[in-house]
Amino acid sequence: MAAQDGRLAGRRAIVTGAAHGIGRAIAQRLAHDGARVALLDRDRAAGEATAAAIRDGGGDGGDAAFIECDVADPASVRAAVAQTVDWLGGIDILVNNAGIPGPLVPADELDPADWARVLAVNLSGVFHCAKYALPLLEASGHGAMINIASTFGMVGAPGAAAYGAAKAGVIGLTRQLAVDYTPRGVRANAVSPGYIDNDMDRRRSRMTPEEAAAVVAERERAARLQPAGRQADPAEVAAVVAFLASDDASFVTGATIPVDGGCTAFFNLGRR
Ligand SMILES: NC(=O)c1ccc[n+]([C@@H]2O[C@H](COP(=O)([O-])OP(=O)(O)OC[C@H]3O[C@@H](n4cnc5c(N)ncnc54)[C@H](O)[C@@H]3O)[C@@H](O)[C@H]2O)c1
Repeated sequence: MAAQDGRLAGRRAIVTGAAHGIGRAIAQRLAHDGARVALLDRDRAAGEATAAAIRDGGGDGGDAAFIECDVADPASVRAAVAQTVDWLGGIDILVNNAGIPGPLVPADELDPADWARVLAVNLSGVFHCAKYALPLLEASGHGAMINIASTFGMVGAPGAAAYGAAKAGVIGLTRQLAVDYTPRGVRANAVSPGYIDNDMDRRRSRMTPEEAAAVVAERERAARLQPAGRQADPAEVAAVVAFLASDDASFVTGATIPVDGGCTAFFNLGRR
C-alpha cells in the first residue's frame, strides 16, 4: 500500500528519540502509514541517516526530516517544535519516546546527578514536548500524543529507582494530560514496552565481546521467564503506537497499554 493511502495520510508527526531503536521503528511505521514525520534526536548523524532511509525506503512516499533536539532542554524543544511547524505547518501526532536507562544500581549507590539526568530526559522531556506541542495538537482538531513508558513504570525492578520513578511519572503525566486535553480534542496515551530486542549491534561497539554476550544472554534469560518467552521486535511496539495515533483509537485516551508479552500480567512464582 502506498503511504498516501495509509490510515495516517495527511497527518504530521513528531517522534522524539527517533534516531535509533524503538523510536526509529515508530518513525518508520508512522511514515509507512502515511504521516510526514519529524525525527527529533540529539544524535544528528544517526537521525539524518534514519530520516534519509525513510525517504528512500521502498519508494512508497515516506516523508521524514531530522531536527536536532535535546528533550531535557526546554529551549531546544521549543526551537525544534517551531522548526517542525515551519516544515509541516502544524502537528497532529506527538510520540514522546526519547529515553535513557541511567545506571541500574540501588538508590544508596545512585549519584544524584544521574538521578537528575534520568528524570530530566525521561520525565521532564515528556513535559517539555507536551507543553510546546499541545497548542498545535489542539489546533489540529484530532491530536494524539503517545508517551513511551516502560513495564518498569508499572512494577518494580531491581536497581531501577530513577528509571522506574521517571516511567511511573510518565504514566501519571499521561493520565493527567488526558484529563485536561481530551475535552480539547487531544487524546493522550502511554505504551509500556517490556523486553525489546533492540540495537545490540550499536551497543556492542561500546562493549567488549564478553560484556555484549553477557547482556544478550541476560536479556534472553529474563525474556524466557515471561509468558511470551521472547523479546519483541521494535516494530511490535511501533504497531501499537500507530494504532493509538490513528482514528481507529478515537475513544482511547488516558490509557497505558503494556506491550510486554505478558510480563506485567504475571505474578512470577519462579516457573511458567
Ligand atoms: N528497549 C527496551 O527494552 C525498552 C523497554 C521499555 C521501555 N523502553 C523505552 O523506549 C524508549 C526507547 O528506548 P530504546 O531502547 O529504543 O533506546 P535507544 O537508546 O535505542 O534509543 C533512544 C533514542 O533516544 C535518543 N535520546 C536520548 N536522550 C535524548 C535526549 N535528551 N534528547 C533527544 N533524544 C535523546 C537517543 O539518541 C536514541 O536515538 C525509551 O523511552 C525507553 O526507556 C525501552
